Amino acid sequence: MIKQSEIDIIRGKELFCNDLPSKPLAKLGKILITGASGYIGGRLIPELVARGYDVRLMVRGNIEAYQAIWPNLDIVEADALNVEQLRGALEGIDTAYYLIHSLHLGPQEFEAADITVAGNFRTVAQEQGIKRIIYLGGLGDKRIPLSSHLRNRIEVADELLMGKVPVTILRAAIIIGSGSASYEIILHLVTKLPLILIPRVSINKCQPIGIRDVIKYLVGVLEVPETCRHNFDIGGRDVLTYKRMLEILANIQNTKTAIILCPLFTIRFYAYLASLITPVPNAITQILMKGLKNEVVCLDNSIKDYIPFKPLSYAEAIINAMNREDQEKVYTRWSDAYPPDHELAIKLNELDKDVPYTTKYSLITRKTAFSLFTSICKIGGKEGWFHSNWMWRLRGALDKILLGVGTSRGRKSYFQLEINDVIDFWRVEDIKQNRRLLLRAEMKLPGKAWLEFNIKNGEDRRKLSVMAYYDTASYFGKAYWYILLPFHHFIFKKLIDAIERRS
Ligand SMILES: NC(=O)c1ccc[n+]([C@@H]2O[C@H](COP(=O)([O-])OP(=O)(O)OC[C@H]3O[C@@H](n4cnc5c(N)ncnc54)[C@H](OP(=O)(O)O)[C@@H]3O)[C@@H](O)[C@H]2O)c1
Repeated sequence: MIKQSEIDIIRGKELFCNDLPSKPLAKLGKILITGASGYIGGRLIPELVARGYDVRLMVRGNIEAYQAIWPNLDIVEADALNVEQLRGALEGIDTAYYLIHSLHLGPQEFEAADITVAGNFRTVAQEQGIKRIIYLGGLGDKRIPLSSHLRNRIEVADELLMGKVPVTILRAAIIIGSGSASYEIILHLVTKLPLILIPRVSINKCQPIGIRDVIKYLVGVLEVPETCRHNFDIGGRDVLTYKRMLEILANIQNTKTAIILCPLFTIRFYAYLASLITPVPNAITQILMKGLKNEVVCLDNSIKDYIPFKPLSYAEAIINAMNREDQEKVYTRWSDAYPPDHELAIKLNELDKDVPYTTKYSLITRKTAFSLFTSICKIGGKEGWFHSNWMWRLRGALDKILLGVGTSRGRKSYFQLEINDVIDFWRVEDIKQNRRLLLRAEMKLPGKAWLEFNIKNGEDRRKLSVMAYYDTASYFGKAYWYILLPFHHFIFKKLIDAIERRS
């Protein structure tokens, strides 16, 4: 997520809304951004802040991390499943952006959760006298059978509309931008494979839209009050088949990937293959790729009457996304959203007992804490794990086959790490500058695991250590630990040697 301190630097060059035809509204009350930890919400924050709005962020966890990034913003911790917490979040709010989505719960659970949450939000928003809700949902014609995901996006809109608070609905198809799951799926398929077999439904049409245009419309409808109580389809300049989208990206990347329609397998199978090859896990590829069966094209273009600007073409949106990746400016990513009640979200210091299995490797060095820490923080992603990379990759590949997250999620930025960032199959649980990096495992494991890097300062030397923690109750879990212990001994020892050497 972009830092408040960075806004001044990027003002004038990088904010998406600089050329928006609407002007900031001077007398608007407080604006709530729900889903602030998510892909869209995270991109909306700097735009509204830079335009001078009084913004409150709603997050479900890690509030300290968001406070560190946005020290001057009002940030509340609330789960929309909890009505009492929602009351606190919506108190004193004028306009609320509704950007909550439970996709990360996976195909079995997301629908019910999203409907319950929307119902709670509608009730509490009405009770608190909110003047307006702005919701970004999905395109789709509800008169025809839709995929569960597209249907759910429309049902959420219907749920919000049942209340008395006026709602503005924006409906988008695939959003193309650095960090978007759909973009990463297409990009990795095209760049990693010489031949892509795609399902027959890939000849259906879609109207992808660039992330910057989505954000412009989100801010634009806020600033044009006449859009209140309206439902708008938003899309980019091109209507393309999914197949053509792959071909255009292959062309931009200058790859010779052959893209062939193959009606032999189910979408479920294609989605599984996509999850093996791309950074996006199976739970999400399944939900998104089932949407291929529906055409998602804007049926109504009335948004242009209210917020007139020329949206990007698909190719322009792709090139923008690539540029931002190259320049290390991926401020939010699909992997940022992370339910705090996720079965793996338990923190090391929240365990109600000592961790039963630990192993530690240390060395003494004269290198500075700064250089050691900088070296630690480069771990994973394209850089790899400094030693025995093939072992980490093998573990990642096994994880993917078992429907885990694998190592291909990589990391959002090569230079920066923040709490909650993903590093391959780990997630950052704690960072103390020049002292500690604590990672929590998200791969498939018969237990829970953490990896901690520590630097202790002595008079003229430092002690650098890496410590693995593991908690399990099952016999299989215990066997797993002992079987891997010799490998850990080798990998972790080599790892801290390499960190020290590269410092
Ligand atoms: N991204 C796209 O390509 C795309 C395309 C078309 C439309 N849209 C629409 O845009 C909207 C936002 O999508 P997104 O991509 O930003 O989603 P996202 O990255 O998955 O973020 C979802 C957000 O919802 C929050 N959330 C989930 N359950 C919650 C709960 N019970 N209480 C409070 N917060 C909760 C998550 O918080 P945690 O971090 O705590 O989980 C996260 O901040 C969605 O309506 C989606 O349909 C997105």
